[in-house]
Amino acid sequence: MMNDPIDAIFDRIRQHGILPVIEIDSLEQALPLAETFLNAGLPLLEITLRTPVALQSIQAIARARPQILLGAGTVLDRPQAEQAAEAGAQFLVSPGLPEDALHWAQQRRLPFLPGAVTPNEILHGIRLGCRYFKFFPAGVMGGLAAIRAMSDPYPGVGFIPTGGINSDNLSEYLRDERILAVGGSWLAKRQAIAGGQFEHIRTGIVQALQAVRAIRHGRR
Ligand code: 3PG
Repeated sequence: MMNDPIDAIFDRIRQHGILPVIEIDSLEQALPLAETFLNAGLPLLEITLRTPVALQSIQAIARARPQILLGAGTVLDRPQAEQAAEAGAQFLVSPGLPEDALHWAQQRRLPFLPGAVTPNEILHGIRLGCRYFKFFPAGVMGGLAAIRAMSDPYPGVGFIPTGGINSDNLSEYLRDERILAVGGSWLAKRQAIAGGQFEHIRTGIVQALQAVRAIRHGRR
């Protein structure tokens, strides 16, 4: 299924190893932030639909920087899925499994990453056609130990743990082949974006990508 468009997008996320979760408060910061990720070597962003300028930010980045793989996060229902796709989101992420949004995305062949943290939630998602899940909030739901303990009955399923991931614990997660990527806001905190601390953000991205490469190439 190499040329399946959904697999291709999840494959790109796997290659990057990190899915940055972005909460953006000012449209003016959208392009400088996108540029920072692009220059640092991580052309992948999930903009959460939790702020008033989220959709406008997605639209601005999609138009100006089409080389960035751009997703929308915190998708809670079908109208939000439609608005995000309309704005230019290429994949959708949710903390849970809103079936109306998932079905709509599946009809559009738009990748959808639902949240799941229990065996039953994973099974429910699999039965609805999902193979990849956001394990959220990873830290408080048992982290990698929980993912390992739950996922044996579900071969082929991959996870993007999110919530409580940072530069100290990302390596631990990424060593497990069930982990597609780690997600989180630690690379570009809301306050750092608002304060225009793009050089600080860029340095953190470069360091995080070095950690990913070291693990993926077995140099540790
Ligand atoms: C999300 O929306 O995915 C989470 O809020 C990110 O969690 P974090 O801020 O702990 O990385």
